Amino acid sequence: MSSFEFYELLIKRLKQNSTNTILYITLIKYNFMLNQKVNDLRSAILLICFISMLSIITSCGNKTEDNSAKTGEGKGKTETKEPVKENTSTTQTSPGKEFFYAKSKENNIACADCHGDGTNLKNTLTKYFSNVQGADKRKSVFHGKFSGAEVASNASGASVCWESYMKMKTPMTPEQIESLNKYYSSLPNPNPVDEIKYETISLPQNDKAKLKEAQKKIMALTGDAANGEKKFEEACGLCHGANKTVKKVPDLFDEFEGNVKSITYNVRFGDGAMPFFNEGVLSNQDVADITAYILKKNGK
Ligand code: HEC
Ligand code: HEC
Repeated sequence: MSSFEFYELLIKRLKQNSTNTILYITLIKYNFMLNQKVNDLRSAILLICFISMLSIITSCGNKTEDNSAKTGEGKGKTETKEPVKENTSTTQTSPGKEFFYAKSKENNIACADCHGDGTNLKNTLTKYFSNVQGADKRKSVFHGKFSGAEVASNASGASVCWESYMKMKTPMTPEQIESLNKYYSSLPNPNPVDEIKYETISLPQNDKAKLKEAQKKIMALTGDAANGEKKFEEACGLCHGANKTVKKVPDLFDEFEGNVKSITYNVRFGDGAMPFFNEGVLSNQDVADITAYILKKNGK
């Protein structure tokens, strides 16, 4: 065996197991001494020195990795057992994550269709509604609807979504609420806030005076049906589009009686299982464009 093959074998063993390597080196060393190959023995000894240095360096490297895992654990919020929490929440499953992605048996919509958790941004509705990262840390949620201890007991407001948007007839169970709270806290939370602030005319109650103002403004705008089609696909398509997956939704393209006013009413106030869209996420111009598209497709 040449000293080069030797070297390769030793490195291979080193990669597998350092205890084995030492045994192996010792064996080879004696083998050489017996064969009286002085030159090869010299290179073998040099190699042994080299490999011992390598193994010291490798073990130092491992220690550094261990430390960084511990730092990650420190940053993760509650649990202390799993290393590098940030990664596990997005790759591993948990009861809370399963619940977040489960479709309602009433109308086939899931939390994850409307809310981002940092990994599902291809669901276009997540652009329009709040993200659940850090939802458990908020002091007030749902435009002030819940605060203090109510935040935790309503899974940061999700109980409203469950009954209204997912049409569930029985309330979430304490186990489901707890699993959601755990899921929120397992997610990386780059922008911790006490409250997500947005302007809405639908909370705490539908503000009719403000709706009239909005309707006037939108009626004064000229809608662009082509842009409206794009916006419609993103903001309304999951429920009203040609490839909709959500059930129990009225058809907007079959004998539709609506107009600018009624569409604005639905968009700004929401209605039953239809969520409201505030001006910050869907501008008055967007509503005018979407309306132009809906009316054009209805031959109006
Ligand atoms: C049809 C869309 C839709 C579905 C489905 C839905 N929500 Fe919501 N959710 C909303 C809207 C709209 C709001 C209020 C505006 C906002 O937060 O963007 C809201 C608010 C929230 C908030 C409060 C955010 C805050 O800090 O104010 C949380 C948390 C939340 N939802 C979690 C959930 C969970 C968990 C589920 C599943 C059980 C769920 N939602 C299902 C649309 C939805
Ligand atoms: C999460 C599903 C969902 C999304 C997203 C959604 N809608 Fe709706 N929409 C509904 C449901 C459900 C109703 C019926 C409400 C009811 O009567 O309970 C409805 C009703 C309507 C109506 C009234 C229809 C009628 O015949 O009276 C209009 C108009 C409308 N939506 C427009 C829109 C527009 C525009 C968008 C996008 C900006 C949109 N919707 C997004 C679910 C949705």
